[in-house]
Amino acid sequence: MIDSHGFKQRREDFLTRLEGKAAIIPAASMVTHHADCEYPFRQDSDFWYLTGFDEPDAVALFLPFRPEGERYVLFVLPKKETEEIWNGFRWGVQGVVDQFGVDIAHSIYELPNLLSEYLQGSEGIVFRIGKHPKVESIVLKIWNEQLDKYQRNGNAALDLIAPCKFLHSMRLLKGDDEIDRIRQACQISAEAHELARDAVCPGMNERQIQGLIEQYFLEKGARGTAYNSIVAGGDNACVLHYTANNDLLHDGDLLLIDAGCSLVDYYNGDITRTFPINGKFTGEQKALYEIVLAAQEAGISSVKSGLSAEVVHLTSLKVLVEGLVQLGLLKGTVDSLIEQDSYRHLYMHRTGHWLGLDVHDVGAYRLGEYPMELQPGMILTVEPGIYVSDRLPVPEGQPEISDRWKGIGIRIEDDVLVCAKGPEVMSSFAMKSVNEMES
Ligand code: GLY
Ligand code: MN
Ligand code: MN
Repeated sequence: MIDSHGFKQRREDFLTRLEGKAAIIPAASMVTHHADCEYPFRQDSDFWYLTGFDEPDAVALFLPFRPEGERYVLFVLPKKETEEIWNGFRWGVQGVVDQFGVDIAHSIYELPNLLSEYLQGSEGIVFRIGKHPKVESIVLKIWNEQLDKYQRNGNAALDLIAPCKFLHSMRLLKGDDEIDRIRQACQISAEAHELARDAVCPGMNERQIQGLIEQYFLEKGARGTAYNSIVAGGDNACVLHYTANNDLLHDGDLLLIDAGCSLVDYYNGDITRTFPINGKFTGEQKALYEIVLAAQEAGISSVKSGLSAEVVHLTSLKVLVEGLVQLGLLKGTVDSLIEQDSYRHLYMHRTGHWLGLDVHDVGAYRLGEYPMELQPGMILTVEPGIYVSDRLPVPEGQPEISDRWKGIGIRIEDDVLVCAKGPEVMSSFAMKSVNEMES
């Protein structure tokens, strides 16, 4: 049976959390790129986490109120030679019972006929509205029919609930096997960053570097990139999601690379490094780089069990703002600058996010008014930056920026595991000290 990641244990935990409710978790579908060409398949992360099944157009049911041996039902594309010759192998109905620990399997085409029966006896339906239009229309039709009959037979799932509460709190805490896989994704991603820095010289094109990095990911057996690689020379780095990656790399500019791989089982790395294209920082570049590095290191030091992502952000932000005040790029006290958001023309994003099967992984950052406490097994990025350009207006009362600072965009991003003993920087193979960036 294909269960290298403890999918069975996760399903059992999930079933327990559902209590008397039925969960409907759809797989992803193929997405059209243009005409009749499609993007590479990307499985839905919730579905993958529970099933380990990597085909499109399936639906998993979790039915804790039914007897053992009937609680995990999978609807899949049935085997069909005339379709498999075009699109590849399918496990089919019997295959998923034999190989994926499924209790009962059906053809996906049976879903409209069978779903109503499977939902009988559930206290609520756990399903995410708005993401799976084909499945949603079936679920809502059947739920509506149940509600219509409720007055007479007293038998319907009355609540429709999003899976976040049951599933995303599980995904936020990574198991040992998941941590190993993310460590591996980070290692490959970090090696690619080192390779790229070695190769860069003035006159190259951004996409040559993108090609090197992404080739390395594939050579190492990754599925591909975790997100669109950002390879941004000079002022391009001030565009946070720059992905055009088609400019010349100029002598005297910095290069910002934000790139990470995604493994075959969808675990990801997410790393950013920034360094001088000609191997030597200018005075202004170095001054800003040192601030971002100090802010990032302070943020990483605050990744501690019992603290929060909010503390990491604020710790990093204070160092960053203090440094910008010292350079004369901001004016005022650190606290008031932060309180009034007066730094946001130079630093406009948060300092990090959860990392897992999704690059911006699921899991709450706050529980009501309280920030989520960091616990061993959580993984987050720490990625402060400074971006100096004319794109945003300087807030009233803040100093105008002299041209010598403009066109400098810097971000430093690592992936950090919360451990009982302190932070583990999973991406530490990628260098980041000033000396290393100049070598
Ligand atoms: N690469 C996406 C991010 O850093 O959040
Ligand atoms: Mn990130
Ligand atoms: Mn990133």
